[in-house]
Amino acid sequence: MPDTPAISADIIVCADPNAIAIDAAHRFVALNAAAVRAGRTFSIALAGGRTPEALYKLLASPRFRDAVDWNNTHLFFGDERCVPIDSPFCNYSMAHRSLIGPLGLPSANVHRIKAEQPDADQAAAEYNMEIAGFFGGAALPAFDLVLLGMGNDGHCASLFPGTGALKERERWVVRNEPGLEPFVPRITLTFPAIDSAANILFLVAGQDKAETAAKVLAGPLAPDELPSQSVQPANGTLTWLLDRAAARLLVS
Ligand code: 6PG
Repeated sequence: MPDTPAISADIIVCADPNAIAIDAAHRFVALNAAAVRAGRTFSIALAGGRTPEALYKLLASPRFRDAVDWNNTHLFFGDERCVPIDSPFCNYSMAHRSLIGPLGLPSANVHRIKAEQPDADQAAAEYNMEIAGFFGGAALPAFDLVLLGMGNDGHCASLFPGTGALKERERWVVRNEPGLEPFVPRITLTFPAIDSAANILFLVAGQDKAETAAKVLAGPLAPDELPSQSVQPANGTLTWLLDRAAARLLVS
């Protein structure tokens, strides 16, 4: 682990992407059970991209699906690309294919970002209201778990380096411009909405992430260039699950 971490987080190195998915699934089950025991609804913001797909499939598999109280679980999304719902780039579509469809989750429990509509600002405002309604007018949302991935450029959700959304302090959901392919507008949770979560979990795999992971976790603070450094929960836990390839430049 870094000798002098730039940010405060639990950093866990897993053997490979499959081990990341297994570790994350156990965490999901434990947090879900804790919410059920406390008589609370469990809320999660899912990550897009490719890495979490293995986790979603695992959660829908016989090994894990019965360990989760799905009726008491509400799924949200950390970000969405402004593409049609049947596009291969649609984050909801990936989550539907791997998790929501196989489990047959009730639509009342799935809160997707309607990013296929022509007005992205409107879609962001609607999603802001959807979250605000769910959390009953609270000053900030309080997701039990926010899942995030990290891009090669250090972005997370659709919070890309140097973009306007990084500075947003009032709204929980905004439109943002893309930093990477697909080059379409994005809709993203903002840092206040992420950092108010009880638990935040990064899933990062692959050697192409190694250089950026080392900069984010062990380099000097430069959150405008490395937005993932801005993820610092106010009162919650922050855990980074990396595979060995992604962690190879971190000092052990
Ligand atoms: C998106 C994301 C994004 C993603 C990272 C990592 O919609 O693009 O939510 O933040 O998590 O780019 O993506 P991979 O897991 O595919 O590397």
